[in-house]
Amino acid sequence: MEQAERKKMRKAIVYASIHHGNTEKLVKSIAEECQVDLIDAVKQSDADLGSYDMIGFASGIYFSKFHQSMLKFAEKNLPDNKKIFLICTYGGSANYRSIEQILNKKHSKVIGKFGCKGYDTFGPFKLVGGIAKGHPDEEDIKNAVEFVKGL
Ligand SMILES: Cc1cc2nc3c(=O)[nH]c(=O)nc-3n(C[C@H](O)[C@H](O)[C@H](O)COP(=O)(O)O)c2cc1C
Repeated sequence: MEQAERKKMRKAIVYASIHHGNTEKLVKSIAEECQVDLIDAVKQSDADLGSYDMIGFASGIYFSKFHQSMLKFAEKNLPDNKKIFLICTYGGSANYRSIEQILNKKHSKVIGKFGCKGYDTFGPFKLVGGIAKGHPDEEDIKNAVEFVKGL
């Protein structure tokens, strides 16, 4: 797709960032460089996504899933047949299954996925000062912005 054509597509990113604001840091940096509307699924449980050409779902990983508020939001507000991209931050490893199960039901196509580490002090990790300290870092942010620009 030509860049001019890409720019015309309306994009939104729905996000849930609870633990350290790791995911929020990424999506806010993306919004500074790309034309996207940000929707905080924790604060806002409803939104009309009908007018968007592409919708991103961005979340930290909690017990191997996207955050419950995000999953509920997608169940409730995502229209069928949308183009979707996924973003997550995680202490250990990415896991997209929870959101993908909802997307399958809604016949939505995932056009890209991006994940990076995010500072994690949950449970025993707190005792050792946390893991993935400093993440997302400059490099992670740069990669996330490029990912969205390339969609
Ligand atoms: C309650 C809780 C559960 C978590 N579970 C996982 C997990 O199953 N796998 C993982 O890789 N990271 C896990 N993490 C780490 C977070 O995914 C990571 O810190 C993420 O960047 C948090 O994003 P946020 O700051 O945007 O909320 C967990 C963190 C918390 C607080």
